Amino acid sequence: MDAEGLEEVDTEYISPRVFTERDFIDRLLTLQRHASDLCDAYTLEEISHATHRAIKHVIDFQGGSLSVVESDVLLFNYFWNASETPTKEMALDGPGITVKAAVTGESQNIGNVVDHPEYVEGSGEHSPKVVSERAVPVKFHDKVTGVINVESVTPDAFTELDQRLVEVYARHVVSAMERLNQIDRLREIQEEHTKELIQGADRATSMLRHDLRGPLSTIKNAAFMIEHEIDKTKDMLEIINNSVDYTIDMLEDLKNVTMQSKLTLISIDVNNLVAQAVKNAFIPDEITVDLRLSDGIPSAMMDTVKMKRVLYNLIKNAIDAMPNSGKLRVETMMSENNLVVKVQDTGYGIPDDLMPRLFKPFVTSKVKGMGLGLAFCKQTVEAHGGTISVVSEELKGSTFTVSIPYMPAPKN
Ligand SMILES: Nc1ncnc2c1ncn2[C@@H]1O[C@H](COP(=O)(O)OP(=O)(O)OP(=O)(O)O)[C@@H](O)[C@H]1O
Ligand SMILES: [Mg+2]
Repeated sequence: MDAEGLEEVDTEYISPRVFTERDFIDRLLTLQRHASDLCDAYTLEEISHATHRAIKHVIDFQGGSLSVVESDVLLFNYFWNASETPTKEMALDGPGITVKAAVTGESQNIGNVVDHPEYVEGSGEHSPKVVSERAVPVKFHDKVTGVINVESVTPDAFTELDQRLVEVYARHVVSAMERLNQIDRLREIQEEHTKELIQGADRATSMLRHDLRGPLSTIKNAAFMIEHEIDKTKDMLEIINNSVDYTIDMLEDLKNVTMQSKLTLISIDVNNLVAQAVKNAFIPDEITVDLRLSDGIPSAMMDTVKMKRVLYNLIKNAIDAMPNSGKLRVETMMSENNLVVKVQDTGYGIPDDLMPRLFKPFVTSKVKGMGLGLAFCKQTVEAHGGTISVVSEELKGSTFTVSIPYMPAPKN
């Protein structure tokens, strides 16, 4: 939209000096009709032009602007009176009627700006000589995000009703501005997300290439041995089987995070599930295990295979965090109507900068990690309607807490 575009819809101007209720309502309706133009505005400039077009149908003014608050200044990009649009900034701690509206959050009406102590000469040499002015803040909740300003070459040009009309329109403007902010924020989040995913996918494929090489060359060597030393066939077949299982596990891990499969719920003794998970984990001798299973935990409906994997991931992370020695505590308990499992370690803890991204896929600090373990845990626990959280202190350790609403097993 250009400056010329502003002139094209000047067809239905209603005199501002008529104060009947009917006229006010007519002007309000005109304003509301024009407010829909804001839905098509995707830049501040378009919002400013739409505002200018709308207001000039209901108020008689010769100059004006939409300015926006940016940190400690009021930024004027779009003056409605100037043939060109000079950019101007006014400090929020300085003088100016518009600035006062921004700082106080109150509409300002100056019937005669000449010699007014707070007035600052406006938008430049192309502007008409301003004599009176109304400045209306654009507020999001209580925060001023901008100011709509109308100026006239005659004294006391604007009425209270004019001000109310601009205030009504300011509410539409703030929604449009907030929509722009949200679009910007979404775009940033999306960019960040895409970047993280691409980096993650890169990392995952190179990890896979790297990790698959190990079991594949083991299989190749075993096949070679079978070919040349037939009496070793039995041992070699076991090696081949183990390598294939390992490879399948690795691919399962990836699949579990990238493809969301449905839960298969079966009745399970939770203490038993936890005890099995600890038993099956490869825990070095230097790590002492403290297993605390509360009495009276009822059988519950869960996806056993997935929950086993959740526990495996948490225990594996805890072990990784204690490379020299430490203590692993795994606890079960009921809390209100939730089944709670805590996995606690005395390891190196989680750095603060990792915390906000911890449960996202492909976030890892490990040379051989894929960063999929916790993402899988979160996805699975949430699919059960539960939550997973962590408390961690660097060099002291971390505690992961899984809490799942108790779903009783059906009675046979
Ligand atoms: N108990 C823990 N102590 C310290 N850091 C942890 C702990 N658990 C997770 N982390 C940190 O969170 C990161 C992400 O964990 P996650 O389990 O998702 O991936 P990973 O262990 O790196 O790789 P993967 O589980 O896919 O093999 C880890 O790399 C590690 O930095
Ligand atoms: Mg892990």
